[in-house]
Amino acid sequence: MNVIITENYEEMSKKAAEILINVVKNNPNAVLGLATGSSPIGTYENMAKDHRENGTSYKNVKSVNLDEYVGLTADHDQSYAYFMRTNLFDKIDIDLKNTNLPNGVAPDLAKECDRYNALLNELKPDVQVLGLGSNGHIGFNEPGTPLCSVTHLVDLTENTIKDNSRLFASIDEVPRQALSMGVKNIMQAKSILMVVSGKNKAKAVKGMIKGEVTPDLPASVLQLHPFVTIVLDKDAASEL
Ligand code: F6R
Repeated sequence: MNVIITENYEEMSKKAAEILINVVKNNPNAVLGLATGSSPIGTYENMAKDHRENGTSYKNVKSVNLDEYVGLTADHDQSYAYFMRTNLFDKIDIDLKNTNLPNGVAPDLAKECDRYNALLNELKPDVQVLGLGSNGHIGFNEPGTPLCSVTHLVDLTENTIKDNSRLFASIDEVPRQALSMGVKNIMQAKSILMVVSGKNKAKAVKGMIKGEVTPDLPASVLQLHPFVTIVLDKDAASEL
């Protein structure tokens, strides 16, 4: 694991964006695996700025996202489809037809998982962006998820519902389920780029990097991937 410790969220975001921009510059047909949440917002801002100022083009880039809430349509302002459009896709020249997320309002969710798994077997990300849950989750692979899991329907834990409730009017509005790439899908990416900031993640960061590989802390599986870069801010690195 290549661990980079930065001063703060801004520096972390610049570093992560630099890595992603280089992937696209080296391969204009790259497949990007993308994440939502607070962690990559600054990274996406830097990518948008670079697109505006330096013209890095995403015209031929394809993307696959980690996850989506069940029950939120793409125009719901807390859906991950909406998040991706407002934080990145609308600010760069990517063709929306080349962007992919699980559909959390598909009539048959089991079929939707099959469709997404088939897609992921075709589109292996050159780099998969990840955030880290305070309980060690990646995507919505909560503690206890088998490390061989593929895209599946997830019952979110109370911990994750509470963490995510900050973005909703009340905790009752947070969806209780999501569709998520499985751990195995994530490990199929050619490389992984994780961004983590904040003291509340420090314990999970320590377990991920220094602990044993265990489904109890799904991110620990990244120790087994040959090309992982983890960009931390000082607070997230404080227990290393
Ligand atoms: C988001 C995702 C989640 C988040 C994680 C951290 O697509 O899959 O695993 O990366 O919950 O969230 P933030 O960045 O909001 O702390």
